[in-house]
Amino acid sequence: MLSKKLQNALNDQINKEFFSEYFYLSMSAYLESIEMEGFANYFNVQAQEEHFHAMKMFNFVHDKGGRVILKSLPEPKADFKSVLNLFEDALEHERYITKSINDLMDVAIKENDHSVKSFIEWYVDEQVEEEASMTKIISKLKLINGEGLGLLTLDNELGSRTFTPEAE
Ligand code: FEO
Repeated sequence: MLSKKLQNALNDQINKEFFSEYFYLSMSAYLESIEMEGFANYFNVQAQEEHFHAMKMFNFVHDKGGRVILKSLPEPKADFKSVLNLFEDALEHERYITKSINDLMDVAIKENDHSVKSFIEWYVDEQVEEEASMTKIISKLKLINGEGLGLLTLDNELGSRTFTPEAE
């Protein structure tokens, strides 16, 4: 059984993961609109990852005998100043999600629920990867001044990213 407090916190996080999917799809759509198909693919794959994060938690709440309550999603930002600006927004969003996961872990610790603590560990580790991946791309974008042949090469490189769901 889940405590009411933990169930609410998990439901809030499910909402944030679905919003992340929606936000990255919006970024992907913007990138498609400026013919940056590789970057668009990167965020399309990112959106699939976020869907996976949300559903993993959705299924866990049910496994624990809890109740999932879906809430509405805010409208995501649709326009960006540049590819670099878009990635900076994405990294800022990931930092917000990292804080949210840490807060969720704090609730699990306070409620002394070991199974939730163990489950949330996966997200703690995942956030390190998510932030690192975006930080690396931002560094490259800064190196090439976010334009020219360098931008096209990076776009081409990110076009090959695919979604590979982890083995359970
Ligand atoms: Fe599910 Fe990108 O955090």
